[in-house]
Amino acid sequence: MKVAVVGATGLVGSVMLKVLAERNFPVTELIPVASAKSAGKEVDFKGKKYKVVTVDDAIAMKPDVALFSAGGSTSLEQAPRFAEAGTVVIDNSSAWRMDPTKKLVVPEVNANVITKEDKIIANPNCSTIQMVVALKPLHEKYKIKRVVVSTYQSVTGTGKKAVDQLMNERNGIEGAKAYPYTIDLNVIPHIDVFQDNGYTKEEMKMIYETKKIMGDDSIRVTATTVRIPVMGGHSESVNIEFENDFDLAEVRSLLEQQEGLIVVDDPANLKYPMPMDAHEKDEVLVGRIRRDESQPNTLNLWVVADNLRKGAATNAVQIAEYMKKNGLL
Ligand SMILES: NC(=O)c1ccc[n+]([C@@H]2O[C@H](COP(=O)([O-])OP(=O)(O)OC[C@H]3O[C@@H](n4cnc5c(N)ncnc54)[C@H](OP(=O)(O)O)[C@@H]3O)[C@@H](O)[C@H]2O)c1
Repeated sequence: MKVAVVGATGLVGSVMLKVLAERNFPVTELIPVASAKSAGKEVDFKGKKYKVVTVDDAIAMKPDVALFSAGGSTSLEQAPRFAEAGTVVIDNSSAWRMDPTKKLVVPEVNANVITKEDKIIANPNCSTIQMVVALKPLHEKYKIKRVVVSTYQSVTGTGKKAVDQLMNERNGIEGAKAYPYTIDLNVIPHIDVFQDNGYTKEEMKMIYETKKIMGDDSIRVTATTVRIPVMGGHSESVNIEFENDFDLAEVRSLLEQQEGLIVVDDPANLKYPMPMDAHEKDEVLVGRIRRDESQPNTLNLWVVADNLRKGAATNAVQIAEYMKKNGLL
């Protein structure tokens, strides 16, 4: 397959190249794409060097699939141009996620919604992806009423500039800032822009996207999203209230059987998921599984994943894999 990676010089794009190679996606021709200023630069793929091209050049090459991670405005402008040329676009930005005509997909949860007519498919927000992988088997069994989530998000979620800010601050170097405040040795309860209701856009994404992916508008969600000076992945404290009561051993077993999820939960031996462990892994890790003793039918979980992998690149490549396997690509 001819595969374009739009945003190939960025944090997510470079992980996409790695994931495509690791999973042996059948790439016969790779087309790395970035902004005009990067045209001519080289990226590595499976030990070979490829020249970065512009969007216009890439469209003319008529790729079968384009994995986009180049920001919302680039997606809004360029994804339809690729789609018109017959390319299937899998987009990592927030541009198309809540468009009712576009599918929002986490393959382990709702790959079945994709049809041959879908030419632009949206990859959900990183924090939402890892949470819904854990919620899915529990919703099927006990029916979720309400979710209260607080996130502890890696600086890699903001892109290259944020990683540079953290490392510069750590090394006492003056440089460009991705955040309005110092991030090293700090915690910033603000991800994406504030909305009129006092929530941030990241928080509202978690609320709306969870309902859309789970296909159930009755699930009530409230979120507080927080940036912390960490690189390996995002962590989440997730409190879930169910319609029906549950058995803790059965909850554990359901989570163990869920595809894409690894249970790391052995407090006696100090085993619980951490971003250091999730880093470079494609799976979501879940632990600290315990009953919320303050009210009935309620569970607490701790969910961790590499936001550049399952939260972005891996999920996008898995969508492409599913489409290829099912003759949709
Ligand atoms: N980081 C995450 O955890 C994460 C998770 C899910 C989704 N996303 C989304 O993925 C996207 C990229 O994130 P990132 O963290 O990889 O950012 P990043 O490191 O800043 O990379 C941005 C990439 O987009 C390219 N680009 C910018 N403007 C472009 C244009 N007009 N045409 C073509 N390419 C253009 C850049 O090329 P140049 O190098 O030439 O500037 C670069 O390759 C964003 O939409 C973000 O919301 C990120």
